[in-house]
Amino acid sequence: MRVSVIGTGYLGTTHAACMAHIGHQVLGVDVDPCRVAKLQSGEVPFFEPELDSMVKDNLSDGRLRFTDSYEQAADFADVHFLAVGTPQNRRDWGADLSCVHAAIDALASHLNRPTLIAGKSTVPVGTARQLAARVRGIAPAGEGVEVAWNPEFLREGFAVQDTLHPDRIVVGVESCHDGRGSATLRDVYAPILEHDVPFLVTNLPTAELVKVAANAFLATKISFINAIAEVCEVTSADVTELADALGWDNRIGRSFLNAGLGFGGGCLPKDIRAFVARAGELGVGHSVAFLREVDNINMRQRSRVVEMTREVCGSLLGTRAAVLGAAFKPDSDDVRDSPALNVAGQIQLQGACVSVYDPKAMENARKLFPTLHYATSLVDACDGADVVLVLTEWDEFQKLHPDQLASVTRSKYIIDGRNCLDPQLWRDARWTYRGMGDAQANGQHR
Ligand code: UGA
Repeated sequence: MRVSVIGTGYLGTTHAACMAHIGHQVLGVDVDPCRVAKLQSGEVPFFEPELDSMVKDNLSDGRLRFTDSYEQAADFADVHFLAVGTPQNRRDWGADLSCVHAAIDALASHLNRPTLIAGKSTVPVGTARQLAARVRGIAPAGEGVEVAWNPEFLREGFAVQDTLHPDRIVVGVESCHDGRGSATLRDVYAPILEHDVPFLVTNLPTAELVKVAANAFLATKISFINAIAEVCEVTSADVTELADALGWDNRIGRSFLNAGLGFGGGCLPKDIRAFVARAGELGVGHSVAFLREVDNINMRQRSRVVEMTREVCGSLLGTRAAVLGAAFKPDSDDVRDSPALNVAGQIQLQGACVSVYDPKAMENARKLFPTLHYATSLVDACDGADVVLVLTEWDEFQKLHPDQLASVTRSKYIIDGRNCLDPQLWRDARWTYRGMGDAQANGQHR
């Protein structure tokens, strides 16, 4: 089939490459000609495991191409996936839909024949219906244009695997189109569906809400365990053992119960805020008011790490701090709303000299926080440090042994913002170790 994917960020580039991988002819579309040129030459402008080779292979096999021309996209494809960003508004909590509207408007004027637009971007509930009316009002093909909503659940760092082996595929359709949209998408995804992947057809608002509700649930789960971690701190309970014990209950499950610095990135934080904003517009703000507390608990973890650092060092003023991690999570170079960088920035603003190291996110971090010092390696970052903070659980940091830092740091204080180190190992090596939900943070010993 001939498909276009509009927007070539983490989501769009991955979707385009995976659609080509399963055999379709794919045109990736982006308004940024530099990005298009890079992708067309096989260069993926961000880090995502497996994606680089998949893009290169499909470019050379002729199944994948990139363009900045909507006219070309409309001419080429019968199915257009919409994968542009929907960031948080600069002035409030709502989603900024300007890229979605711009893309739809630019595409619509070239749609001369029956076409399916399948939205993948995360949007406030009700958006798809508005877009359907908008596109049909502009497109020469009019009623021949159908809009479906096909939310994406991929995680950065696992984007290719999540696209090729999803837990489920959800497709929201318009009742007036007789199931044509879902049939078309069933054909698009046929090679993936062969592996017994559930294919769920819903109406448009349900599909939009499934995505937002999933992210709200995941965010709530993380803030739940972080709230429990705060209780653990004052009771000598161990939050990791507690999470393990909870996780054995199948109804609860162990995933997303890692206490720590909390969630960040380009999705969970802005999605729960946009959900609260949209619910307010719909007159049901009270129903999701708890998400404000989820957000509060999450942001509090960042302040708690700052306070913990102040506590172990006595003062932040003049303290040399090594921050290990800048990406919002491991296996990603994404620093959007990164808890690690947020803490690094806060302790620097309060007088500490901060040296940051991250295996993949240095370039992006430097652009966002140019005033921090960036080290060339883990050991370089820790050179002369009074305190070491592990804020993103990269494998390299989890494997760190106290011997590696024996004659590198000035003092032996380590803060484990992701509970990803072995506390005993560090304490045995005479380090002062502090974790999240760790009784010692409250002067108690476990
Ligand atoms: C998230 C969802 O997991 C995807 O299903 C969704 O498609 C995506 O958002 C999206 O909306 O596009 P992602 O942002 O890549 O994916 O990252 P997650 O793996 O969900 O992690 C989010 C944050 O939660 C990270 O900062 C991570 O460190 C944190 N986290 C995760 C915890 O603090 N504790 C945990 O136990 C798990």
